Amino acid sequence: MSVRVRKPHVVAEEGDHKFVWLGLSEADAERGVLTNQYMIVSGGEAMLIDPGGYFVFERVLNAVTEFVRPDDVVAIFYSHQDPDVVGSLNLVTEFFPNARIYISRLWVRFLPHLGALEGLDVVEIPDEGMEISIGGSKLVAIPAHFLHSPGQFTLYDPVVRVLFSSDIGAAVFPKGRWYLFVENFEEHVKYMEPFHRRYLACTRALRAWLKRVRGLEVEIVAPQHGAIFVGENVRRLLDWLESLGAVGAELLYAETVPRGPR
Ligand SMILES: [Fe+2]
Ligand SMILES: [Fe+2]
Repeated sequence: MSVRVRKPHVVAEEGDHKFVWLGLSEADAERGVLTNQYMIVSGGEAMLIDPGGYFVFERVLNAVTEFVRPDDVVAIFYSHQDPDVVGSLNLVTEFFPNARIYISRLWVRFLPHLGALEGLDVVEIPDEGMEISIGGSKLVAIPAHFLHSPGQFTLYDPVVRVLFSSDIGAAVFPKGRWYLFVENFEEHVKYMEPFHRRYLACTRALRAWLKRVRGLEVEIVAPQHGAIFVGENVRRLLDWLESLGAVGAELLYAETVPRGPR
């Protein structure tokens, strides 16, 4: 069987600021759910976004070093605590010694369970989110709690107007199917819908996130799984999420929702 390895790709750039997708091996799909890793490079410094699980780390490291030296990685953004996000933490801290970890305050106390992590340099992201500076650029951690994790953030890069959407907009491809950019949105929906119905907790959380995101200038949405949305497909994605209806707890416990006084 031929294993297809995809090279890293610069999704957007302006001057010395780049938003990079860090490549993929289709063989990863044999081991676990396919994941996207990204990196923002700005002013000679870099931030890794959801660098991922243990078995993808070697590919991620090789991809990073095509653009920067490991010592230039000054920040790791973890959108939440899932194994496909934080699983390589031990390797990350070993190979990127100057990196400061940013993760929801809810998950900081869980990180030591990933191994011996003496002196871990962690910044707790408060529930309301925060700005994170790298290389003179300011990135914004935007709350996405319960979409799906109770402590979850998406990340907006205002320089190139890219929104890393974490598990929102995620697609799970069937075996043998993969593409980096969404071309036919209607076709793509079938790969997104089951994930959103079961993993996202509730419509209320989704609406709050959408309200926040619609106030930003977003040209590209880059999710942690599946394909990237550009231009008109960004609007289609946000409209689709808005019209999704019941998800997660609302579906699973539909019959037990209190009806109020009769
Ligand atoms: Fe997740
Ligand atoms: Fe995920």
